[in-house]
Amino acid sequence: MAKKKKLIVANWKMSPANAALARVLFAKTKRVASRFENLLTVICPPFVYTSLFTHAGTSRFFLGAQDVHWSNSGRATGEVSPEMLHDLGVSYVIVGHSERRALGESDEVVSKKMNAVLKEGLKAILCVGERERDAEAHYFDFLRDQIRQSLSGVKPRFLSDLVVAYEPIWAIGKSSREAMTPRDVLESLLFVKKVLSDIYGQQAAEAVPLLYGGSAEESNTATLLKEGGADGLLVGHASLDAEGFIKMLKCANTVA
Ligand code: PGA
Repeated sequence: MAKKKKLIVANWKMSPANAALARVLFAKTKRVASRFENLLTVICPPFVYTSLFTHAGTSRFFLGAQDVHWSNSGRATGEVSPEMLHDLGVSYVIVGHSERRALGESDEVVSKKMNAVLKEGLKAILCVGERERDAEAHYFDFLRDQIRQSLSGVKPRFLSDLVVAYEPIWAIGKSSREAMTPRDVLESLLFVKKVLSDIYGQQAAEAVPLLYGGSAEESNTATLLKEGGADGLLVGHASLDAEGFIKMLKCANTVA
């Protein structure tokens, strides 16, 4: 059986500061990423830069988006529709990132976006994760509810386009030393798999790639993928330094 490729998603958030820098970062990353045969690499730039990279994808390198609106039409000032993204050659869309949820995005809105993205024929990267951990492990209940509600209405036939990124909020935007330990990543991802399997059945759930996100850097890439059992990584700040990110990709390609 062919080895499953690791999925590495770069979330540039609100960076870099201008289009010229974005072009350079994109070009440098793409040139190297396209060579790695064990990886699928996705770059999610801010919306304003998306059209700079229209249809830039290859079989190993894809254009993504950080958010989306849940409808293809109607009055929605400032929003971007799934259809618009599709038209520009976007393949993956991050939905429900904790930084969007912090601005008021509810599970209900996330589920509407998930359904819209999947119906558009795009791949949806659903972000979930607890704000903090408590000694009684109530965060597992939170996680279960968040996954269930975010996937509300998502039919099993769309599962082949679903990716789930587990991103504990407390581990985001720090250094690799403060990221989750691979042991805890493994435990959490097994839990996510169990929740998916309760909803969709074991066989379908097994096929959904599960990513880890939260201070993934070059130094912890190998352990997060190997011992953490992640099918890939959602990378924020470490994806903004082309040289460092390329080292991460190289490492992931070897582990995969
Ligand atoms: P980080 O961000 O890698 O900077 O922690 C990850 C994310 O928020 O997706």
